[in-house]
Amino acid sequence: MAAERPTWPIKPHTEAKHAMLRHYLNAWFPILASQRFNKIIYLDGFAGPGVYTGGEPGSPLIALEALVNHPHFDRFKRTEFVFIFIESDPASYTSLQEEVTKFWSIQESGEPENVTIELYNNEFTEVANQAVNVKHRLQKQVVPTFAFIDPFGWKGIPMMEIRNLLSSDKCEILLSFMYDGINRFLSDDTPSIISQFTELFGTREYRKAEGLNTEMRKKFLRDLYRTQLQGEGGFKFVRPFDLIDVDRKRTVNFLMFGTKHHKGLEVMKEAMWSLDPIRGYSFHGFAGDQQMLFSPEPEITPLRNAILKRFSGVTVSVRTIERFVIEETDYLTTHYKRQVLRVLEKEGSVKCVSPRKRRYSYPLGTMLHFSSDNNAQLF
Ligand SMILES: C[S@@+](CC[C@H](N)C(=O)[O-])C[C@H]1O[C@@H](n2cnc3c(N)ncnc32)[C@H](O)[C@@H]1O
Repeated sequence: MAAERPTWPIKPHTEAKHAMLRHYLNAWFPILASQRFNKIIYLDGFAGPGVYTGGEPGSPLIALEALVNHPHFDRFKRTEFVFIFIESDPASYTSLQEEVTKFWSIQESGEPENVTIELYNNEFTEVANQAVNVKHRLQKQVVPTFAFIDPFGWKGIPMMEIRNLLSSDKCEILLSFMYDGINRFLSDDTPSIISQFTELFGTREYRKAEGLNTEMRKKFLRDLYRTQLQGEGGFKFVRPFDLIDVDRKRTVNFLMFGTKHHKGLEVMKEAMWSLDPIRGYSFHGFAGDQQMLFSPEPEITPLRNAILKRFSGVTVSVRTIERFVIEETDYLTTHYKRQVLRVLEKEGSVKCVSPRKRRYSYPLGTMLHFSSDNNAQLF
C-alpha cells in the first residue's frame, strides 16, 4: 500500500508568502544571471512536501518554476543554479523527491544541465551551513545565495546559524516565523522555551518585551529581531513585514527580508507592491516608525508623516531624502516626489533653497528646507 502523502491544504497566508517569493525570484534569478556569476544558490531550509492537498506547488517547486519557466532561461546557460532543499520529516522528504521528479518529467526539455538539486533529509541546522559554505569555498568568485527559511513556528532557526550560513557578500534571506505563538509563550519559564527564544533572537533581550502593551511588545520584538539580523546576521538592510489576519486584526507572522545591497531592497519592494490582494490577509510594512499597508492604490500619508518627522527643521538634499525612502521605508522612489515633496512645498512646509530649472521639480542635488513646525502637519 502506498504511504499516505504528508500534505495539508494550503492556507491564504501561505499563498501570500508564496506570491512574495515568486515575485522576488522572478526578478532575482535574471538579475544575477545577467551578471554572469558562475554559480547561484537557492536554499530552502524548511522545504516541506513540495505540494499541497489541492495540488498547489510548495516553495521548492515555486523556486524551480521561477527559474526554468523564465522567458529568458535560455540565456542563463553560463550559470550553474544549485537548489538546496532541506526537509527533516522523512515522509515529507520522500514526497518532495517525488514532486521534483514529477516536475522534471513534465518539462519539455527535461532537467537542464545547468540546474543541480540537492535534497537533504535532515534538520536545517545539521546541514545548511556545510552545504552552502563548501560551495562558497570551492568557487573563486562570490556565490550569490538566497535562503528561504520558513518553519512552522519559531523553532530551529538560531540567529548564529543564519549568521554563519549567510556571512559572505551577495547573500539574501527571506525568513518567516510565527509571531502570535511567540507572543503567547513570551513569559513561559520552561527551559526549552527560553532556549528556543534565545536561539531565535540570538539574545535574552526578548524578555524585556514582557509587561509591554500589545502594540509596544510587537514593535519591541520586531525591532529586536531586525537589529539582530543586521548586527549578528551582517545584513546591511533588513525590511520587516507583518502578515496580518484582517478579520482577527492580528499579526500572524513576522517576515524579514535581509540583503547586503540596495538592488535587493529595491527588487523586494517592487515585488511587495505588485502583489495581488490576498483574501483575509494583508502585508504591512513601515516608513520609519509609521505603519503602512501594501495596497493597489498606495496610501501616501505614512510616507508623508515619516519624511516630515525625519527632516523637521533641517535643510537636506533630495538625494538624502531619497536614501531615506529607499533604506528606511517600504515605499518606492516613484512615490515621494510628486505625491509628497511637491504637496509639502505647495503647502509651505518645505522650501527649495537651491537653484533649479523648474518649479516643483526635485533633481537629486536640490536642497530643501523643512520647517520645524512640521509636527503640526502630520496627519
Ligand atoms: C511551513 S512548512 C514548509 C512549507 C514550505 N516552505 C512551503 O512553503 O511550501 C515547514 C516544514 O519544515 C519541516 N521541518 C520542521 N522542522 C525542521 C527542521 N528543523 N529542519 C528542516 N525541516 C524542518 C516540516 O516537516 C515542514 O515540512
